[in-house]
Amino acid sequence: MPGPAPTDLLTAGEVARRTGVAISALHFYEREGLISASRTAGNQRRYARHVLRRVSIIQVAKRMGIPLTEVADEFARLPADRMPSTRDWERISRHWRGRLEARRRELERMERELTGCIGCGCLSLSTCRVFNPGDALAADGPGPRRLPEISAD
Ligand code: FES
Repeated sequence: MPGPAPTDLLTAGEVARRTGVAISALHFYEREGLISASRTAGNQRRYARHVLRRVSIIQVAKRMGIPLTEVADEFARLPADRMPSTRDWERISRHWRGRLEARRRELERMERELTGCIGCGCLSLSTCRVFNPGDALAADGPGPRRLPEISAD
């Protein structure tokens, strides 16, 4: 018996079962423009088989802390009607490795700064590099300032 043709369409349940991703997550990815589905006459979603690879790449990105907006940027460079190729994945993985390296360096820098706080406890908004990285708050004038959010980007 022949296997499924690459043009066969999958239901949301089949994609969920094959990828281990909840159907609600598939709908969310669709709303975010990461994957797309066609609709049957009964308005049920049908996914092309190459969506499986896209969902898998999204899961890899999530595990690595890559924001979905960046996944969308990468997917925007891919043809919408076929499986991401080996070359596509090589480009994406090379890019994301650079992101991980940058994040590792940032984590190492923050670790060094935090090490300086151990045994100090001054919590100084003017001298502690953790509370005032690069003295960025000084430009806002005197007085207490809200701490900037630390981004996972
Ligand atoms: S708490 Fe004193 S240097 Fe950070």
